[in-house]
Formats: sequence, structure tokens, C-alpha cells
Amino acid sequence: MGRYKIKDLSHYFKQYKKSVKNPVRFWDKIASDHFEWHQRWSNVLDFDMKEARFEWFKDAKLNITINCIDRHLKKKGDQVAIIFEPNNVDEEVQNITYKELYARVAKMANVLTEMGISKGDRVCIYLPMIPELAVSLLACARIGAVHSVVFAGFSSVALSTRINDCDCKLLITADGGFRGSKVIDLKQIADEALKSCPGIKDVLVVKRTHQPVSMTPDRDYWLQPLLDEAAAMHVAEVMDAEDPLFILYTSGSTGKPKGMLHTTAGYMVYMGYTFKNVFAFKKGDIYWCTADIGWITGHSYIVYGPLLNGATTVLFEGIPSYPDHGRFWDVIQKHKVNIFYTAPTAIRALAKESAAYFENRDLSSLKVIGSVGEPINEEAWKWYYENIGRRRCPLVDTWWQTETGGIMISPLAFVTPTKPSHATLPLPGIQPALMDELGNEIHGNLVSGNLCIKFPWPGMARTIYGNHQRYIDTYFSTYPGRYFSGDGALRDETGYYRITGRVDDIVIVSGHNLGTAPLEDLINSHPSVAESAIVGFPHDIKGNALYGFVILKEEAGNSDGDEIRKEINQLISDNIGPIAKLDKIQFVQGLPKTRSGKIMRRILRKIAENELNSLGDTSTLLNPEVVDNIMSNRL
Ligand code: WT7
Repeated sequence: MGRYKIKDLSHYFKQYKKSVKNPVRFWDKIASDHFEWHQRWSNVLDFDMKEARFEWFKDAKLNITINCIDRHLKKKGDQVAIIFEPNNVDEEVQNITYKELYARVAKMANVLTEMGISKGDRVCIYLPMIPELAVSLLACARIGAVHSVVFAGFSSVALSTRINDCDCKLLITADGGFRGSKVIDLKQIADEALKSCPGIKDVLVVKRTHQPVSMTPDRDYWLQPLLDEAAAMHVAEVMDAEDPLFILYTSGSTGKPKGMLHTTAGYMVYMGYTFKNVFAFKKGDIYWCTADIGWITGHSYIVYGPLLNGATTVLFEGIPSYPDHGRFWDVIQKHKVNIFYTAPTAIRALAKESAAYFENRDLSSLKVIGSVGEPINEEAWKWYYENIGRRRCPLVDTWWQTETGGIMISPLAFVTPTKPSHATLPLPGIQPALMDELGNEIHGNLVSGNLCIKFPWPGMARTIYGNHQRYIDTYFSTYPGRYFSGDGALRDETGYYRITGRVDDIVIVSGHNLGTAPLEDLINSHPSVAESAIVGFPHDIKGNALYGFVILKEEAGNSDGDEIRKEINQLISDNIGPIAKLDKIQFVQGLPKTRSGKIMRRILRKIAENELNSLGDTSTLLNPEVVDNIMSNRL
């Protein structure tokens, strides 16, 4: 078992140079060569970085599902498109061929149409990781409806906020969901949410767990009987290049979640291109991404990217620790997975378990392994590369965001030599820049700064749904003329990028982005809380965990601290979801503030990280005395 062979990187540099010199020609060729269009574009790109207006493939007409499904039917109709691996090991695997996928999507599209959904309508999807989830996305795209998937781990309040923000007309959900040994009461959560969603006219319910649920007459319909009646043929709606494809919410550092809007042609071209090149996808490869379709990784690299390439994509309902910590490795062995894409938090958790879980598994089918979601520390990188990739598989550490649609900075498997914890080089077509605090670009190597992108790419989000100004303010105004990612990065001596993490008030916990400001607002609504500040601190498995500093109201003086801690976390669970719970809650007398009244989070971060000797300058604080007090009571 030797190392894998690297092809000549000079081919990459040649392509890269071409893509920067003439982006229009570069994307024009990719769009022409690899996709099916009803009508070609008259112009590849028209844009204005200041106003954040981007128009890709003007006048082109297409339907993304024709590219994901129909065009494969002739040669690959009997090839498996989706392998469904259920949560429970004793339940049968479903192998859904491209032909069957076509029929399922057509039926679903016909059901949606019968429910009165048409082009441009928003449909909310709140489902566990079952085939109906992928089918629902594709059925929406088929009829030109805009899907808005809400991760099934979100609470009823989070669900209703997202439904109302983009005025969804219809909800697709399930009676419940299996997750390890637990059953999630999805319908019950949805019912709670719908009490405050007057815009939802109908609810389609998938029977998954068969638990008893309440069905509201004239609103709730079991999906299966409707599918049984529907025709298995559907003529796809012809879409314009810039017609919306989907909305997906991501946390903001302030205020309500941002509904990132992605459009049709550019997203399709970018997902098809990046999937093939980053993972070195070859015909016949079995590909498995362990993300949830509720996140962008699942949209782009479980559903659209693989299907655009006619791949076989594994859809896994379960979790890495059920029935035991060998589940991932069992699934790889069972389905002879060739390309495996997962998150650092899962890798760190599994690395802690006994080697017996992976040592005697046959992982020889693997040829490429990948990581996404947060920086992968060196220890985890090496463990993954050695024990799972067995030093034979390139490890692609892929940096990107909900906003970017697809992978931006990453090794190309078998092309780019990898380096632990480095996302390495930009994909052709992507022009990164590091910026200093004054807004100047930092050139040269061995430097660090804030990570921006200088030129548009087809997969980028086009706006924040219903609030274009917020889109401009958040991403295009910190460094005028550039897209600002919110991440910090350094460039090493060879020009490789290493992403160092968020430079704003977003903390990534187990790969989930959490804005600290919305969490603080929520905690401050607790009747005993006067004020709070939340920061992230390093955590062995989750990457980061949340530390809350909370000032209680005077009248709460005699209450039980542990009781309030419990209530705060319950409040978070109910309003956002259990993923956002605080690991530590310290009650404090005051918070360190600047003279203008702003909380100095830098200091709180250091305290949470236990870096008490590097607090930096505290002399400009309005109330330096609170710092000692906080430090001495640190949890
Ligand atoms: C944030 C975006 C990308 C899809 C899943 C997350 C962090 C993502 C990496 C990586 C270091 C990474 C960044 C980014 N991130 N991938 N390979 N190395 N950091 O999408 O929820 O929109 O989160 O995840 O901080 O800004 P998202």
C-alpha cells in the first residue's frame, strides 16, 4: 500500500491562469461542454460588486432536474442514483435507480402541482434524511418552485421563523424521524410551528415512524396515497438562468437568520464542475457525503453535485455512533464506497473510540476522502488520513460556505499535493485575497488576513431573501468591490491557504454555525437575566463550544443557579435547537465594556479559552475591576 500518485500540478496552474485571465471564456466552455440547455445564453456574466448584482448565463433556459436525471436515463437508467441506508441496521437498504428516481420525482412534482404549487412559490421541507427529502428538492426544482429546507433538528420556533420569512405556501414533513436510538416527533414540532404560520395552506406528511400523530382536516395529507394516484411522467418547467432554485438559512452574527438565495444556471454549473474535479469523480464511483440535506453540504454534495454527474450517492439516515461507533466504516465496507466526505467533528469523535471499530473493516474501496465544515486540526487530519484513508487516499480539506454554494478552496484529488490542516489552493475560477484591517490587500506569501473573493463565480448566492441591503452590508461593504467571507486565513510559503476560523461573532459548534448575538437576545428574554455575553471556546470533539457570561437581575438573587442554567438551555432548545445549548454558564456581576458601552468579547474569549495571561490591554475598559472577578470564578 503505497502513497497515491500526484499528477503534474502545472496543468492546474495553467488552467487557473486561464480562468483568471478570461473568466468568461472559462465558464462559457464548462457550461457548454457539460450540461443540457433548452436555450443557450447570450452573455456569460454581467455584474456589479458594489450593488452585489450578478447575472450568469443571461437568457439561458434550462431545468436542473433534466440535467440531474433525464439526461442520464438512456445510458444509466438502471444504474443506482441513490443508495438509502436507513438508521436501523435491520431495515432494508433502498437502491433507487435513475429510472426510479425519475418516476418518484415526476409523481411528487405532479402532487405538488395538484396542491396548487407553481413556479416561484416557496415550499418548506422539514424532513429526516429519507429518500423523500431528496425527491422533494428535485420535485420543487422540476416545477420551478423554490425549496427552503429546514434542518430536522431545528425547533418549532426556528421552523416557523423560516417558514414566515419567505412566505412558504406548503410544508412537507413526516410523522417522525429515526435518529440513532431516538425518535424525533417531527409532526408534533411542525404542528406547534404552524400555529404561527398563516401562509401555510397544506401539509404533506410522509409516514416514516408510524407513530400516532394528529392530522388537521383540509390541511394535512398523507403523502403516499397522493403519490399512488399521481402520474409517473412529468414535463419539466423551463426555467430562466437566474430564476430562484432554493433558499437556505444560515445564522447571522446579528438578528434573524439570513435566507441565502441561490439561482438555477450558475448553481448548476458550479456544482457539476466542483463535484467532478475536487473528488476526481469517475463513472461508476460510489460516493458518500455524511452531511444532512438540511445544510448546504447536503444540497450541493449529496443531491445536486453527484446527480449532475450521474453518480451513485449514498443517503444515510443515521448517526456515526449507532448502533455503535463502527457505523461509518460498516457502511463504507457494505456499499464499497469510493469517495467519502465528512466533517472534522465526526472525525474527532470517532478517533476517540477504540481502533477495533475500524481496524478490521475493509476500507479498500476508498480512493478519496474529504473534510468540510470547520478547520480540521492536524491531529484529526493525520488520524483520518492514516486510519481511514490508509495513506492511499488524498484527503481534500474543502473550504466553502452556504453563501458560496460550492467548494472554493480545496485540493483537487490526485492533482494537488495535500498538507495537514490546509485547504491548499483556490479552484480554477476562484480569486481569493487576504485583506488587512485597513482594507488593503496583502500580497506575497507567509502572510495572514481576512479572506475575500475578488471576482464573481457562478455558484454564489444572489441575495438574502427579502433583504438585498443586508446582503450588500454583510458581504460586499467591509471591503468594497470584494466578497468578504467572515473567515481569517493565512497563506504559507508555497501559497497554500490555511483557514484559521471566523473573525466575526459566529461560532462553529460541531460544524453548525451559530451567531452569538441572536443567542444573547434570547437569553436576555429569560425573566431572571439582566444581560449576557456568549463566546466560543475550544472543545475536543465539537471544535468549539459555547460559554455564556450572564448577569442576573437583582430580584433573582436567591434563586437556584443550576435551575436558571437549566432554564436558559431549555429556552435555547425550544427556540433554536439543542445544538445551540451552552456548555458553560457563569453568573457574573458585570461584563467588561468599552467606554462606549460595547462588550469587549476579546477579553471574554480569552477567559473562556483559559488564556488568562494574554488578556491584552484592559486599561481602556470602563470597568476593569469586573475582569478579575470573572477570572477568579471561571468555570
Ligand atoms: C463556514 C461556513 C461549507 C459547507 C458547510 C458549512 C467554516 C467550512 C471549512 C474548512 C475551515 C471551514 C468557515 C466558513 N468552514 N469549511 N474546510 N476549513 N473552515 O457551511 O454552515 O455556511 O459555514 O464554515 O468558517 O465560513 P456554513
